[in-house]
Amino acid sequence: MNSSTFNPIPHPAAASAPTDGPAPDVEAGARRGPGRLHVAIIMDGNGRWAQARGRPRAAGHVAGAAAVRRTVEAAPGLGVGTLTLYAFSSDNWRRPPAEVGHLMSLFSRKLRIEAPRLVENGVRLHVIGRRDRLRPSLRRRIEAIEERTRSGTALDLRLAIDYSARDTLMQAAGHLSGGAPLSRAVFGRAVAAAMHAPPESPDVDLLIRTAGEQRLSDFLLWEAAYAELLFTDVQWPDFDAGHLADALTRFGRRERRFGGLAPMPTATHTPITAPARRTAT
Ligand code: FPP
Repeated sequence: MNSSTFNPIPHPAAASAPTDGPAPDVEAGARRGPGRLHVAIIMDGNGRWAQARGRPRAAGHVAGAAAVRRTVEAAPGLGVGTLTLYAFSSDNWRRPPAEVGHLMSLFSRKLRIEAPRLVENGVRLHVIGRRDRLRPSLRRRIEAIEERTRSGTALDLRLAIDYSARDTLMQAAGHLSGGAPLSRAVFGRAVAAAMHAPPESPDVDLLIRTAGEQRLSDFLLWEAAYAELLFTDVQWPDFDAGHLADALTRFGRRERRFGGLAPMPTATHTPITAPARRTAT
């Protein structure tokens, strides 16, 4: 195979319906282009990164924002169609007010500064999670940038702010409690609606967590049902295109069976634009 070829992964639910047995009702969603992957990242380690350098935690978040930009810019060239980044969990409100305030200001500032570049690069941005507890100025900025980037086709970027998977699921269930018949597709759309995500958001293919911890922390519990998990010791502020390329290469070696016996054809991936790098975990 051509070493720069990216073989798309047909999602089982995207395949034609079988002649017997249940029709697949997992909401596969329209990826941003055929066969493009959904990668989700729990960006962890900003505080430790800063601490190791004798700097305040805020400096780690600023460096983390730079890593967000690198990752977003590398993703489309590496075969990623949807990228979901966990920026602030609903449990993060428990942090000291000064840190929360700094993070909210950072989100607001970065959304303003990065908007033209996102448009230029064809990135469509959605902020997923609750909106009612965000300061009104941030909420307005989110709505403006979502509107401004809505025709982007190169990458679906979903930034999770005040996000809790469990709260999202409960809210979706609440919306559907009228007794209408449920399917995974219907429920999946309700989950997307409950967090302001595009209705066609695909399931997660690969979920990465940086900075050594190995847990999901209430992130994408519905959509990551069959995600491949990859944990790396790299701290988020150090993460770059090479690490993402490495992760995708390792993902391409995984065998995905989705509960069946036959492996589904999976990605064989060689970085297209990023330099080779030592394995990240
Ligand atoms: C987790 O590291 C990181 C966060 C709670 C914040 C994530 C925010 C960024 C990466 C900046 C994002 C900026 C934009 C514009 C999206 P931690 O602080 O929990 O690190 P620690 O576990 O080492 O303390």
